Amino acid sequence: PSVLLTTAGMQQFKPYYIGKADAMRDFGSKNVCSVQKCFRTSDIDEVGDETHLTFFEMLGNFSFGGYWKKEAIKFAYDFIVNELGIDRGRITATVFGGDNEISEDKESFRIWHEEIGLSKEKIKKHSRADNFWGPTGNEGPCGPTTEIYVDGVEIWNVVFNEYYQNPDKSLRKLEISGVDTGMGLERLAVMLQGVKSVFETDLFEPLISKLREVAPTVFLPAPASADSSSQRRLHLAGRIPPSAGTELRPAPKLPHEIQSALHEKALRILADHLRSSIFLVADGLRPSNKEAGYILRRLLRRIMVYEIKYDIHAELFVLAVDIIKKQYADWYPEVKKSKEILDVLMEEKTKFEKAVAQGVKEINKYEKITAHDAFYIYETFGLPFELLQELVPEKVRDLKKEDLEAERKKHQEISRAGVEKKFGGHGLVLDTGELKAANNEEVEKVIRFHTATHLLQQALRDVLGPEIHQMGSDINPERMRFDFNFNRKLTDEELKKVESIVNEEIQKDLPVSFEEMTFEEAKKSGARAFFKEKYPDRVRVYSIGPDSPVGEEGQPYSKEVCGGPHVSNTLKIGKFKITKQEAVGAGTRRIRAVVE
Ligand code: SER
Repeated sequence: PSVLLTTAGMQQFKPYYIGKADAMRDFGSKNVCSVQKCFRTSDIDEVGDETHLTFFEMLGNFSFGGYWKKEAIKFAYDFIVNELGIDRGRITATVFGGDNEISEDKESFRIWHEEIGLSKEKIKKHSRADNFWGPTGNEGPCGPTTEIYVDGVEIWNVVFNEYYQNPDKSLRKLEISGVDTGMGLERLAVMLQGVKSVFETDLFEPLISKLREVAPTVFLPAPASADSSSQRRLHLAGRIPPSAGTELRPAPKLPHEIQSALHEKALRILADHLRSSIFLVADGLRPSNKEAGYILRRLLRRIMVYEIKYDIHAELFVLAVDIIKKQYADWYPEVKKSKEILDVLMEEKTKFEKAVAQGVKEINKYEKITAHDAFYIYETFGLPFELLQELVPEKVRDLKKEDLEAERKKHQEISRAGVEKKFGGHGLVLDTGELKAANNEEVEKVIRFHTATHLLQQALRDVLGPEIHQMGSDINPERMRFDFNFNRKLTDEELKKVESIVNEEIQKDLPVSFEEMTFEEAKKSGARAFFKEKYPDRVRVYSIGPDSPVGEEGQPYSKEVCGGPHVSNTLKIGKFKITKQEAVGAGTRRIRAVVE
């Protein structure tokens, strides 16, 4: 739950590194390897260069207390040189050079130099920013890395997961020394196939050559006539009535090399986004305005914007779904459901076309489009700035990227001021219904609040009686709200008491842990569960208290059925302060609180 999409091969294995799951029991070995579908939004702006992709396949080998540095480095080297046949002269490595918190990884340096025989000049020591990996999400296993380069391109990241990073960024040493390695299949293919970019490998060849065939306009400057192609296409598609009279001017002339470089980049972006969105949809994701669904929606919109911008008449979704199916179905049977995948894509396309048509009507109302207008048009109709440039260049001619950026910032601040409004739109990185946060910093904050609500509930029961139970809760980075059944105002003394119990439990630095079980088992174990919605087959029971599993000796202070996420230890919560009590209808009271 700490990430929107899988960004690394190790994510599925997180519980094995921290001892919450047993690799021997589940895999019959402490050492495993995998091919993991990954998606990285962090690389989205780099897509179009030689090596970055949003979706990629990550090859990795992992050990949960089995082998360690020496074997991990030897395995990697042996695979590259002896299995793949890459000349050893092409290989260089980096190791972690140490900082004021963690010492230099001398061991890996020694192994590379003495045991593998790499000369010292070929082993670079790098800082924490480069040679320390993880955690993914808010917390988790992480550690120093040694990275392997072929011809100067990083192809393999070998992570020594020695630490656990807590949400407050502090590190603790893990009991299990874990190895986590990752190598992108696409980059590896670049090395082995002797090509320059991932887009030239056989993994992309079918899609790229199809795009070259159906989208020749991506390479040729669009005709600079008044009846410019985008306009014509919109008319043809019925997207704007011919009378709409959107006046188009020729795009500014750029030198030929710059134009073709730009176009090559657009083609690569199209190929990347088509492939990744097809895989996301095949995995069950649907376009929406929040979380992972919003990422998918952005990818699809970008594809559709390019279709308009470059006047591509072919149905890219239809072609791409077919190509991906042929190419990948043997390994990823989920892409065989081409009809279902295509339905999702085409439905989104219909929605987008409607929005564009409305947006075009809207932009016709403006003489000039200011940054404020452009932002509004984007937010309301999903028409990005680059499409405005394409459709109505004369109306946005004076508009600069910086102005738009300033507008975006201003908008963020305005939304921050109005907390209620804030989450009406989209762009949340976390939204569990109960917890809402728009960035990592806010995620940390709401998680602290969330654990505090569990303590608060138990403290209320301690003070007011065991009939108290949660009626609802709402958490955002500014405050937490907790509703419970009680039919009178709490006295000041009662409130003080509740507050200080919560703070006492926080000060005990109790560990927070969870176990999965059926809902029946959870109820039997005495875990609290109040929400009206239906529970899934297996639920999580979060315990705050002695470090013993639910149901055994030493009952935890609080035990609740809950989806998480929570802090790992109560001290992370900080100081808990009740700010207000209110009545919400008959028999329900609300407490508002903050943490400092
Ligand atoms: N987890 C590391 C990475 O994703 C190594 O697998 O790069």
